Amino acid sequence: MAPSFIGVFFVLPESFQWHGGDGVSFFGFPIGVILSVLFEYVLLGVVVSGVAVSLIYCVVTGISPIPSSSPSRAFILGDLLGECAPDLMGAAIGELGAGWGTMAFPLSARFPGTKVLAYELSPVPWLFMWLRQGLFRRRNLRIHRRNFLKEPLSGLSLVVCYLHSECLEKLRPKMEAELAPGTLVISNTFDIPGWEPDAVHKLDDSFCPQVYVYRVPGATLNAPAPVE
Ligand SMILES: C[S@@+](CC[C@H](N)C(=O)[O-])C[C@H]1O[C@@H](n2cnc3c(N)ncnc32)[C@H](O)[C@@H]1O
Repeated sequence: MAPSFIGVFFVLPESFQWHGGDGVSFFGFPIGVILSVLFEYVLLGVVVSGVAVSLIYCVVTGISPIPSSSPSRAFILGDLLGECAPDLMGAAIGELGAGWGTMAFPLSARFPGTKVLAYELSPVPWLFMWLRQGLFRRRNLRIHRRNFLKEPLSGLSLVVCYLHSECLEKLRPKMEAELAPGTLVISNTFDIPGWEPDAVHKLDDSFCPQVYVYRVPGATLNAPAPVE
């Protein structure tokens, strides 16, 4: 049997096409062809909707869910956090804008005794993380489909983010108000406008060429309790 007509745009591998029931027909069409075409349309609809929703959320958040590069992750999780790992025991880490969980899952594996709060607004990457958590559960990882700008940040001992400068500019006063002075903030690639970095680590990586390290300045205001 030939692939269905939608195959002009989207050809399913032969193994995914159902060729059974050729003897059964519905209004003259073999049932196998009808089911195969229906399956392809549903799949195409899901993919197109997922892409459309993701594009809308790119506009809403101002950034795509592009994952941090492998060298930058290795550097942050290895050399950089190696220095402050003992301070994090029993504390909480915030992954603000967690995307597909590329950083959140390794963070939770790297610090099994520390709660990792992963916030992601875009539904498709959030759903991916949620499914990943269902399959490969990390006991200390909490995944939230929420806007971190509206969530209390108090209680976090470390903030890790890979966001654009405009978003970081909105996040800065919130961090100053809610995080304890001296809290470590690691920003992949983009600097936080208005803050002086403690260190800028240059990486041999064209996607994420630098990692900024900050300590929250200023005094702490009374902030709401951290999210569970
Ligand atoms: C460049 S990705 C970073 C992914 C991940 N942190 C990593 O390092 O692989 C930035 C993510 O932040 C999310 N984001 C941006 N603003 C947000 C907000 N206010 N609340 C929650 N998520 C947000 C975007 O949807 C996007 O998925």
